[in-house]
Amino acid sequence: MELYHVLGAKQFNRKMLDEIFDITRSMEDVVEAGGSDRYANKVLTTLFFEPSTRTRLSFESAMSRLGGKVIGTENAAQFSSTIKGETLEDTIRVVSAYSDVIVIRHTDIGAAERAAAVATVPIINAGDGAGEHPSQALLDLYTIQKEIGRLDDLNIVMIGDLANGRTVHSLCYLLTNYHNIHISFTAPENVQIPSTVKKYLDEKGITYVEEYDLAKVAANADVLYQTRIQKERFMSLDEYEKARGQYIIDRDILGFMKQDSIILHPLPRAGEIAVEVDQDPRAAYFRQAQNGLYIRMALIQKCFNR
Ligand code: CP
Repeated sequence: MELYHVLGAKQFNRKMLDEIFDITRSMEDVVEAGGSDRYANKVLTTLFFEPSTRTRLSFESAMSRLGGKVIGTENAAQFSSTIKGETLEDTIRVVSAYSDVIVIRHTDIGAAERAAAVATVPIINAGDGAGEHPSQALLDLYTIQKEIGRLDDLNIVMIGDLANGRTVHSLCYLLTNYHNIHISFTAPENVQIPSTVKKYLDEKGITYVEEYDLAKVAANADVLYQTRIQKERFMSLDEYEKARGQYIIDRDILGFMKQDSIILHPLPRAGEIAVEVDQDPRAAYFRQAQNGLYIRMALIQKCFNR
């Protein structure tokens, strides 16, 4: 399977996902062995126009562990020539000459596609506004496989800011590659799952419900996928306050959950999973974040070994 740009989750089929997960498992061994120098002559650039901890640092760590070099800017909106009026397209044309792969996070939906249209090296979408976050969804799926042992026959509850949650959108798209998937969307009224995502699920024959009662859907869930209410994307503080704090996973919710289920969260969290939950073995979100390193090593390898 060839992979060049990584722009959205719809570009992956089941065979590609199997291959990426096989490589990801081998990357766990590479890290365990102390790393590799296979990309000593390669440069990865991170261009982040929005804040990040996990995505940027795990891509940078992934490249370092594969022996490559990393350049970039963590605040491209202020510390790149964007602030002088340079277009995204011109920035990408120039940075392509300095890089072998570019990882970009941007405020605008579709920014990664715009970058890919002019780049001369692979572009990896690390989040485009409220659009998609494909590498996150890949690590989410890898984590489900690793924790639960299967990707078919799953009952998944997606909770929180489903309108702005780009990881949710990408994960929904990836899940359409599997059999007997049922999704429950549990969200405050003003941040429901977009109709575009529901339409895609309909086309692919995935069943879903929109359910306000978290305790009810938690009881049958294999995966509770919690997300943060994204304050930075609301037009007004009032709208944010309407959505905030409605769904919190705490000891009470744990009491409804099956013993063999898991809780995921792309992180960062902002109060929607109580700290008391962290000690429960079903709390898989920090293991999930660690898997991000291995997935991103696999993606880098796929981009270079076409
Ligand atoms: N999950 C995720 O994208 O985290 P960061 O915003 O810290 O990169």
